[in-house]
Amino acid sequence: MYTIVTASQKGGSGKTTLSGHLAVEACKHGAGKVALIDTDPQGSLAHWWNARQASEPHFVKVGVLDLSQALARLDEMGFRLAIIDTPPAITASISQVVAHADLVIVPTRPSPHDLRAVGATVDIAERHGKPVIFVINAATARARITGESAVALSQHGTVAPVTIHHRVDFAASMIDGRTVGEVVASSQSAREISDLWAYIQEKLSRLVRDPALLPDIMPTHLSISPLQDMPQIEDERAPPMPEVPPKIYEGPERRGLPDRRIAPPVPRLNERRAHVFGRRQTDTV
Ligand SMILES: Nc1ncnc2c1ncn2[C@@H]1O[C@H](COP(=O)(O)OP(=O)(O)O)[C@@H](O)[C@H]1O
Ligand SMILES: [Mg+2]
Repeated sequence: MYTIVTASQKGGSGKTTLSGHLAVEACKHGAGKVALIDTDPQGSLAHWWNARQASEPHFVKVGVLDLSQALARLDEMGFRLAIIDTPPAITASISQVVAHADLVIVPTRPSPHDLRAVGATVDIAERHGKPVIFVINAATARARITGESAVALSQHGTVAPVTIHHRVDFAASMIDGRTVGEVVASSQSAREISDLWAYIQEKLSRLVRDPALLPDIMPTHLSISPLQDMPQIEDERAPPMPEVPPKIYEGPERRGLPDRRIAPPVPRLNERRAHVFGRRQTDTV
């Protein structure tokens, strides 16, 4: 069983929202049995799940101290993925949860306060040697600070190429136990979440070297996809790309003007000047 932990010391950054959404998305894309674990004493994820009609993903409320036993038990029960939501601010308990992670997702709002809080979370992950992915959440469309935040975050680690924008459907869906995709499947928010899951799923499959986790379809518009190859994972579903020979241009010569490397003829000295500004009174005509 693989474990994804959403962590950030800043409250309200989107840990609970993304935990629920990613768990539902994982179930939808056949990641096997998925457990959603709430380690936050405030229990926001538990409230969401209690309001939920669908039985998947499964939900477990665990104290931080009992986490290892709970994870071992879930593994025995055939769960393939656990997504763990953490409380904000309490460094010690975040650290204990991060210790179990295969991948740490750090949701960050594009604001100076959130960016300042990132360092502490990254320190915890680094102390445990855990890979981190930042997800910019609740971004305003076309705001310059989104790009600036991505650059600032990239100094600390990997930034997901999918930004989750600020939309009321995220807040609304969390109230009635659903996800944005379960409310309106064709919404922009639903598309962002499914792209984000495809990216995270692919990242996780590389980290744990498990080709079975690879997404069936990788969205082609994710900027990261053309840059990557998978040398370590042998995946039969993805045959190698055929080599295309370079095209050689065989058409007519397209250069219209004379060759500038050949000097133009030098004008004769006693030739009459063409431009009036070049003339003096002493010039003989
Ligand atoms: N992308 C978003 N757009 C709009 N509201 C959001 C978005 N992400 C989170 N929220 C809202 O912000 C609040 C805090 O989010 P939450 O996931 O509970 O953060 P955390 O768990 O990090 O404290 C919630 O009311 C949630 O509905
Ligand atoms: Mg929360």
